[in-house]
Amino acid sequence: MSLAGRTEKPATQPVPVRIGGFGGAAALADFLKAGGYDLLIDATHPFAEHISANAAFAAETTGIAAIALRRPEWHRGPGDRWQVVQNIPAAIEALGPSPRQVFLATGRQGAHHAEAAPQHHYLVRSVDPVKPPLALDNVEYILDRGPFTLEGECDLLRQHHIDVIVAKNSGGAATYAKIEAARLLGIEVMMVARAPAPMVKAVDTIEAALAVIDHLFPPAMKRGV
Ligand SMILES: NC(=O)c1ccc[n+]([C@@H]2O[C@H](COP(=O)([O-])OP(=O)(O)OC[C@H]3O[C@@H](n4cnc5c(N)ncnc54)[C@H](OP(=O)(O)O)[C@@H]3O)[C@@H](O)[C@H]2O)c1
Repeated sequence: MSLAGRTEKPATQPVPVRIGGFGGAAALADFLKAGGYDLLIDATHPFAEHISANAAFAAETTGIAAIALRRPEWHRGPGDRWQVVQNIPAAIEALGPSPRQVFLATGRQGAHHAEAAPQHHYLVRSVDPVKPPLALDNVEYILDRGPFTLEGECDLLRQHHIDVIVAKNSGGAATYAKIEAARLLGIEVMMVARAPAPMVKAVDTIEAALAVIDHLFPPAMKRGV
């Protein structure tokens, strides 16, 4: 498993882990060849666009098999008050000129875009502290890591009198509770859309990924029979 090294205390994993960038797409290709890898699984966050592009390039140039594990996007349901925007700066702009109580739930990377609209009050949630802190007077920070519950998210939104949430369309269950809570409480969501994903065979679930792996490398091959 390869981690970028952004999280200060990453969760323990039951497989060998390496940490840090490879030095670009060509360097990732060299790493894969040198390590004799048979398969590359891109299981990164859907908004980690550079590493996904690098992974697709490395698989293509080395001829190593590749699959992407991509959580399906969330879709707007009845009662959702979404405004779909292309990126975080567009989300901040869409908040408008009047001061609002904003829950910035996009993580610490990109939080600095809020500085473009200092009239709002921001509640920023991230796994690790935002460094340097935002150059804003009206900002509060919460350090927390999902999964989050609907009850917990409703309490948070009420306590901080939030009237709009800025979120990435990450998909998956772990961070969906804020979207459900917004629906229940009638709160607007600036939903940052995903960029188009690279052309790699993609699956939605771990089970589907395991099935593809079994197909590519049948169990008899894995046992070396
Ligand atoms: N973006 C998000 O919203 C978000 C949210 C939660 C978790 N994450 C996770 O945090 C990590 C970094 O995200 P990001 O948005 O900064 O990525 P990114 O913009 O796609 O990647 C930037 C650079 O970081 C290095 N890198 C990224 N993921 C790596 C990995 N798994 N192993 C080794 N190097 C990696 C690569 O450096 P080199 O070019 O030097 O190889 C890559 O070019 C990803 O693994 C992602 O899954 C991201």
